[in-house]
Amino acid sequence: LFAGPVDFVKGVVAMSGLPPADRLEICFAGRSNVGKSSLINALTGRKALARTSNTPGRTQEINYFDVGEKLFLVDLPGYGFAEAPVAVVRQWQALLKSYLSGRATLRRAFVLIDMRHGIKKVDEEILDLLNKAAVTFQVVLTKADKISAAQRDKTLDQVRKALAKHPAAYPELLVTSSEKGEGIATLRAIIATMQ
Ligand code: GTP
Ligand code: MG
Repeated sequence: LFAGPVDFVKGVVAMSGLPPADRLEICFAGRSNVGKSSLINALTGRKALARTSNTPGRTQEINYFDVGEKLFLVDLPGYGFAEAPVAVVRQWQALLKSYLSGRATLRRAFVLIDMRHGIKKVDEEILDLLNKAAVTFQVVLTKADKISAAQRDKTLDQVRKALAKHPAAYPELLVTSSEKGEGIATLRAIIATMQ
Protein backbone atom coordinates (compact mmCIF):
# COMPACT_ATOMS: atom_id res chain seq x y z
CA LEU A 1 0.00 0.00 0.00
CA PHE A 2 2.75 2.45 0.95
CA ALA A 3 4.91 1.58 -2.07
CA GLY A 4 2.72 3.77 -4.30
CA PRO A 5 2.28 7.54 -4.31
CA VAL A 6 1.05 9.47 -1.30
CA ASP A 7 -0.33 12.92 -1.93
CA PHE A 8 -1.57 15.80 0.17
CA VAL A 9 -5.26 16.29 -0.64
CA LYS A 10 -6.38 19.29 1.40
CA GLY A 11 -6.46 21.02 4.75
CA VAL A 12 -9.95 21.17 6.22
CA VAL A 13 -11.21 23.80 8.68
CA ALA A 14 -14.93 22.90 8.82
CA MET A 15 -16.96 19.69 8.55
CA SER A 16 -18.42 21.02 5.30
CA GLY A 17 -14.93 20.98 3.80
CA LEU A 18 -14.29 17.25 4.26
CA PRO A 19 -13.54 15.41 1.01
CA PRO A 20 -16.18 13.03 -0.38
CA ALA A 21 -16.57 9.98 1.87
CA ASP A 22 -15.73 7.61 -0.97
CA ARG A 23 -13.07 5.45 0.69
CA LEU A 24 -11.96 4.32 4.10
CA GLU A 25 -9.88 6.58 6.24
CA ILE A 26 -7.82 6.32 9.36
CA CYS A 27 -6.79 9.21 11.53
CA PHE A 28 -4.05 10.13 13.97
CA ALA A 29 -5.20 11.89 17.12
CA GLY A 30 -3.29 12.87 20.22
CA ARG A 31 -2.10 15.67 22.43
CA SER A 32 -0.23 18.54 20.84
CA ASN A 33 3.39 17.63 20.08
CA VAL A 34 2.92 13.87 20.65
CA GLY A 35 4.27 13.12 17.17
CA LYS A 36 1.22 12.67 14.88
CA SER A 37 2.65 14.43 11.85
CA SER A 38 6.06 12.79 12.35
CA LEU A 39 4.38 9.37 12.39
CA ILE A 40 2.64 10.07 9.08
CA ASN A 41 5.98 11.05 7.58
CA ALA A 42 7.62 7.88 8.94
CA LEU A 43 4.80 5.68 7.62
CA THR A 44 4.91 7.18 4.17
CA GLY A 45 8.68 7.50 4.08
CA ARG A 46 8.30 11.16 3.17
CA LYS A 47 10.28 13.43 5.45
CA ALA A 48 8.25 16.60 5.02
CA LEU A 49 4.83 15.43 3.82
CA ALA A 50 3.14 16.50 7.05
CA ARG A 51 4.53 19.59 8.75
CA THR A 52 6.13 18.97 12.13
CA SER A 53 7.51 21.30 14.77
CA ASN A 54 8.81 21.61 18.30
CA THR A 55 6.01 24.07 18.96
CA PRO A 56 2.80 22.39 20.22
CA GLY A 57 -0.06 23.37 17.92
CA ARG A 58 1.75 23.03 14.59
CA THR A 59 -1.10 21.24 12.81
CA GLN A 60 -4.12 23.53 12.84
CA GLU A 61 -6.30 21.94 10.17
CA ILE A 62 -7.52 18.43 9.42
CA ASN A 63 -4.98 17.40 6.80
CA TYR A 64 -5.94 14.72 4.31
CA PHE A 65 -3.40 12.52 2.54
CA ASP A 66 -4.30 10.08 -0.18
CA VAL A 67 -2.51 6.74 -0.23
CA GLY A 68 -2.66 5.09 -3.65
CA GLU A 69 -6.22 6.36 -4.14
CA LYS A 70 -7.26 3.61 -1.76
CA LEU A 71 -7.18 5.14 1.69
CA PHE A 72 -7.06 8.52 3.36
CA LEU A 73 -4.58 9.15 6.14
CA VAL A 74 -5.83 12.01 8.30
CA ASP A 75 -3.50 14.19 10.37
CA LEU A 76 -5.43 15.96 13.12
CA PRO A 77 -4.69 19.06 15.16
CA GLY A 78 -3.51 18.20 18.66
CA TYR A 79 -5.54 18.64 21.81
CA GLY A 80 -4.41 19.93 25.18
CA PHE A 81 -1.91 22.75 25.42
CA ALA A 82 -1.11 24.51 22.15
CA GLU A 83 0.84 27.65 21.40
CA ALA A 84 -1.84 29.34 19.31
CA PRO A 85 -4.52 31.99 19.96
CA VAL A 86 -7.30 30.77 22.28
CA ALA A 87 -10.12 31.44 19.81
CA VAL A 88 -8.34 29.48 17.10
CA VAL A 89 -7.63 26.56 19.42
CA ARG A 90 -11.28 26.47 20.50
CA GLN A 91 -12.42 26.34 16.91
CA TRP A 92 -10.12 23.48 15.94
CA GLN A 93 -10.97 21.49 19.10
CA ALA A 94 -14.67 21.70 18.21
CA LEU A 95 -13.88 20.55 14.67
CA LEU A 96 -11.75 17.70 16.01
CA LYS A 97 -14.61 16.45 18.18
CA SER A 98 -17.17 16.70 15.36
CA TYR A 99 -14.81 14.84 13.08
CA LEU A 100 -14.02 12.05 15.54
CA SER A 101 -17.65 11.38 16.32
CA GLY A 102 -19.24 12.10 12.94
CA ARG A 103 -17.21 10.69 10.06
CA ALA A 104 -18.91 7.57 8.71
CA THR A 105 -15.90 6.31 6.75
CA LEU A 106 -13.50 6.59 9.69
CA ARG A 107 -12.33 2.99 10.08
CA ARG A 108 -9.97 3.39 13.00
CA ALA A 109 -8.57 6.23 15.07
CA PHE A 110 -4.99 5.80 16.14
CA VAL A 111 -4.62 7.64 19.43
CA LEU A 112 -1.04 8.62 20.06
CA ILE A 113 0.34 8.69 23.57
CA ASP A 114 3.82 9.94 24.41
CA MET A 115 5.63 7.00 26.01
CA ARG A 116 7.22 9.28 28.55
CA HIS A 117 3.90 10.57 29.83
CA GLY A 118 1.24 7.86 29.47
CA ILE A 119 -2.49 8.57 29.37
CA LYS A 120 -3.55 11.95 30.79
CA LYS A 121 -6.95 13.42 31.58
CA VAL A 122 -7.26 15.11 28.17
CA ASP A 123 -6.58 11.75 26.52
CA GLU A 124 -9.32 10.13 28.59
CA GLU A 125 -11.81 12.69 27.25
CA ILE A 126 -10.95 11.75 23.67
CA LEU A 127 -11.13 8.03 24.47
CA ASP A 128 -14.57 8.55 26.02
CA LEU A 129 -15.73 10.43 22.95
CA LEU A 130 -14.52 7.68 20.60
CA ASN A 131 -16.07 5.04 22.78
CA LYS A 132 -19.44 6.81 22.79
CA ALA A 133 -19.28 7.26 19.03
CA ALA A 134 -18.36 3.55 18.68
CA VAL A 135 -15.22 4.39 16.71
CA THR A 136 -12.64 1.63 17.07
CA PHE A 137 -9.42 3.12 18.33
CA GLN A 138 -5.92 1.82 18.87
CA VAL A 139 -3.26 3.34 21.06
CA VAL A 140 0.12 4.07 19.51
CA LEU A 141 2.88 4.88 21.96
CA THR A 142 5.32 7.40 20.53
CA LYS A 143 8.91 8.55 21.09
CA ALA A 144 10.02 5.13 22.38
CA ASP A 145 13.61 6.17 21.64
CA LYS A 146 13.44 8.66 24.48
CA ILE A 147 12.93 6.25 27.39
CA SER A 148 14.43 3.28 29.21
CA ALA A 149 13.08 -0.28 29.12
CA ALA A 150 11.83 0.05 32.71
CA GLN A 151 9.93 3.23 31.88
CA ARG A 152 8.42 1.49 28.87
CA ASP A 153 6.98 -1.28 30.97
CA LYS A 154 5.57 1.23 33.42
CA THR A 155 3.78 3.18 30.69
CA LEU A 156 2.49 0.04 28.99
CA ASP A 157 1.03 -1.07 32.28
CA GLN A 158 -0.66 2.29 32.93
CA VAL A 159 -2.13 2.38 29.43
CA ARG A 160 -3.45 -1.20 29.60
CA LYS A 161 -5.21 -0.39 32.86
CA ALA A 162 -6.72 2.80 31.45
CA LEU A 163 -8.01 1.00 28.34
CA ALA A 164 -9.72 -1.77 30.26
CA LYS A 165 -12.86 0.36 30.61
CA HIS A 166 -13.14 1.18 26.90
CA PRO A 167 -14.88 -1.49 24.81
CA ALA A 168 -13.99 0.37 21.58
CA ALA A 169 -10.26 0.04 22.32
CA TYR A 170 -8.33 -2.35 20.11
CA PRO A 171 -6.26 -4.30 22.64
CA GLU A 172 -2.90 -4.40 20.86
CA LEU A 173 -0.63 -1.50 21.86
CA LEU A 174 1.91 -0.31 19.33
CA VAL A 175 5.27 0.98 20.48
CA THR A 176 6.85 3.31 17.94
CA SER A 177 9.66 5.70 17.26
CA SER A 178 9.37 7.87 14.16
CA GLU A 179 12.95 8.89 14.81
CA LYS A 180 14.44 5.38 14.86
CA GLY A 181 11.81 3.53 12.85
CA GLU A 182 10.71 1.19 15.61
CA GLY A 183 7.20 -0.21 15.09
CA ILE A 184 6.70 1.56 11.76
CA ALA A 185 6.64 -1.59 9.60
CA THR A 186 4.11 -3.16 11.99
CA LEU A 187 1.85 -0.13 11.79
CA ARG A 188 2.14 -0.09 7.99
CA ALA A 189 1.09 -3.73 7.89
CA ILE A 190 -1.93 -3.07 10.13
CA ILE A 191 -3.04 -0.20 7.92
CA ALA A 192 -2.52 -2.25 4.77
CA THR A 193 -5.01 -4.85 5.98
CA MET A 194 -7.72 -2.18 6.19
CA GLN A 195 -7.94 -1.13 2.54
P1 GTP B 1 0.89 19.14 16.71
O1 GTP B 1 0.63 19.18 15.22
O2 GTP B 1 1.45 20.40 17.22
O3 GTP B 1 -0.28 18.66 17.49
O4 GTP B 1 2.09 18.07 16.97
P2 GTP B 1 2.29 16.60 16.39
O5 GTP B 1 1.61 15.62 17.27
O6 GTP B 1 1.98 16.54 14.94
O7 GTP B 1 3.87 16.39 16.62
P3 GTP B 1 5.06 16.51 15.57
O8 GTP B 1 5.03 15.35 14.64
O9 GTP B 1 5.06 17.88 14.98
O10 GTP B 1 6.32 16.30 16.53
C1 GTP B 1 6.55 17.13 17.64
C2 GTP B 1 8.02 17.06 18.02
O11 GTP B 1 8.35 15.75 18.48
C3 GTP B 1 8.96 17.34 16.84
O12 GTP B 1 10.04 18.10 17.32
C4 GTP B 1 9.40 15.95 16.41
O13 GTP B 1 10.67 15.94 15.81
C5 GTP B 1 9.42 15.20 17.75
N1 GTP B 1 9.18 13.75 17.57
C6 GTP B 1 8.15 13.18 16.96
N2 GTP B 1 8.24 11.83 16.97
C7 GTP B 1 9.39 11.53 17.60
C8 GTP B 1 10.07 10.30 17.95
O14 GTP B 1 9.64 9.18 17.65
N3 GTP B 1 11.22 10.43 18.65
C9 GTP B 1 11.75 11.63 19.01
N4 GTP B 1 12.88 11.63 19.70
N5 GTP B 1 11.16 12.81 18.70
C10 GTP B 1 10.00 12.76 18.00
MG1 MG C 1 1.03 17.87 13.73
